[in-house]
Amino acid sequence: MTDSNNSTTTTTTNNNNNNNNTITARETPGGPPPGLGTLGKLRWGAKHPPADPTVSFAGKTVLVTGANTGLGFEAAVKYARLGASRLILGVRSADKGEAAKQRIVQLSGRRDDDFFITVLLVDMAHFDSVRAFVQALGRATPRLDVALLNAGLANPSFQQSAAGWEMALQVNVLSTALMAVLLLPLLRATAAAETGTPPPTPPHLTFVNSFGHMLAEREWLGPSGSLLELANNREGWDPRKSYATVKLQGMAVMQAVARATTTTTTTSSAEQQQQQQQPEVIVNAVCPSQCKTDLGRQYGLMSKILMAPYQALFARTAEQGARSLVSATALGPESHGRFWHHDILHPIGDLAKDETLMRKAWDEIFQVVVVAQPDLQQILAGQGPQS
Ligand SMILES: NC(=O)c1ccc[n+]([C@@H]2O[C@H](COP(=O)([O-])OP(=O)(O)OC[C@H]3O[C@@H](n4cnc5c(N)ncnc54)[C@H](OP(=O)(O)O)[C@@H]3O)[C@@H](O)[C@H]2O)c1
Repeated sequence: MTDSNNSTTTTTTNNNNNNNNTITARETPGGPPPGLGTLGKLRWGAKHPPADPTVSFAGKTVLVTGANTGLGFEAAVKYARLGASRLILGVRSADKGEAAKQRIVQLSGRRDDDFFITVLLVDMAHFDSVRAFVQALGRATPRLDVALLNAGLANPSFQQSAAGWEMALQVNVLSTALMAVLLLPLLRATAAAETGTPPPTPPHLTFVNSFGHMLAEREWLGPSGSLLELANNREGWDPRKSYATVKLQGMAVMQAVARATTTTTTTSSAEQQQQQQQPEVIVNAVCPSQCKTDLGRQYGLMSKILMAPYQALFARTAEQGARSLVSATALGPESHGRFWHHDILHPIGDLAKDETLMRKAWDEIFQVVVVAQPDLQQILAGQGPQS
């Protein structure tokens, strides 16, 4: 990656493609220099946008949720430009979805007969809508190579879903967890249908997370140590704590789904037995860094005015942020269960490294989602219905 005259132009040299459609991820070098605080890291991120991926998505079917605006929209444009055969836009309004579809065609210049865009409706505020969406997706496509779970929100005040959960918890965590698990049969079936030597890179399930998960503090937890309780507690709720908490829960979801999609094979030779772990589906999380998008749309005018200079100094454009989202969905198996940020497999926050806390957080999420989907465990374990 290079800077030219302090501008934000980058080259794509850090993609380290090992073939036409996989990016080999590394842990170092890269990322902000050590010793910077949060603002220093954000400023560094604004001045050093990630590499624009050049990998091919030819022949691939790609799902992007929240694809009508912001990072999801910019990612969808990139997939179209990078040759995807089919794009599925998961949006909550048909009008917005159709408008996005037209813009993607216009911006990508893709008018070939081999390219389709399908708009499917989903409102992640409701479990039923997520279930209906995945069923519709299964009818629309026999394969899914990439699922980019991007839809999310950041509210300025406490709002509740119909099921009684704080809205960011419902949308960013609970419904996203349900969607991730329900997509597994199709992703696994796509992997199983692939043959070839060497075997192709497995399909990708990528969660759009945030560096914000690193800002969650252990002191916020009550005596029960429950992240679910913390995220859902109206008393003392504040938007900054909420965002950090739901993104930390998002890391617990990603880790759990990554565990469930790791297979162990045993090979034996005359001398020894060896166990090898391989992902059936590559599951990872990504942070685009602070970006100029519609995420703050629910905030009042004064907050938006105050945010403007902050965004000017510390935020990437949505297009720059979307580079990370798209490259995350082209990483190799080394990214399974990991966090892609600033073009490296970035260290995760201390709380996300706390396995006891993360497993407890996942158990809590599971107990909620299983009520909406009683066979959740079977699907997770690969014993559910094949799409
Ligand atoms: N912007 C940043 O600085 C930043 C940094 C790190 C991570 N992220 C993450 O990036 C992701 C995308 O955010 P963004 O910044 O691009 O924000 P955005 O411009 O507000 O886009 C959010 C997308 O999510 C959709 N969405 C929200 N609630 C939904 C619901 N109930 N059902 C279905 N779709 C819903 C929105 O649809 P509508 O248009 O219909 O509302 C929109 O398409 C989020 O997960 C966010 O947490 C953002």
